[in-house]
Amino acid sequence: MIVALDHIAIAVPDLEKSIKRFMEDFQLDFNGKEDVKGAKTSTAFFPVPETSIELVHPLNDEGPIKAYLEKKGGGLHHLCFRSDDINADVERLKAKGYQFLSEAPYAGAHNSQVIFIHPKSCDGVLIEINQPA
Ligand code: CO
Repeated sequence: MIVALDHIAIAVPDLEKSIKRFMEDFQLDFNGKEDVKGAKTSTAFFPVPETSIELVHPLNDEGPIKAYLEKKGGGLHHLCFRSDDINADVERLKAKGYQFLSEAPYAGAHNSQVIFIHPKSCDGVLIEINQPA
């Protein structure tokens, strides 16, 4: 079951500059940085109860965010629904014809399990489902 809007992610070309903006200019709490090797992404989270802003940046100058930035320069990248049973939700959505970017959930930021629905299944919006550890 989907239980919350977990976060909204913004792809950023300069991670440190954007962290400063959200900390100092927007005065949000900074929840720390994490390199998610499996996703080739560096992330930074700013909780805004009951959700978070996630900054995403290429890890080691490679991965899907690099391709996104080259095409768009930055921007609103995905939104993420929090699930209390990700495998059941994936199964349910697959049965309805949704296409996913991977066969099964994998390890994302904060040791959560994550999976992405293909944007063409959701009117062009990239939607992530996660289940916190
Ligand atoms: Co995310």
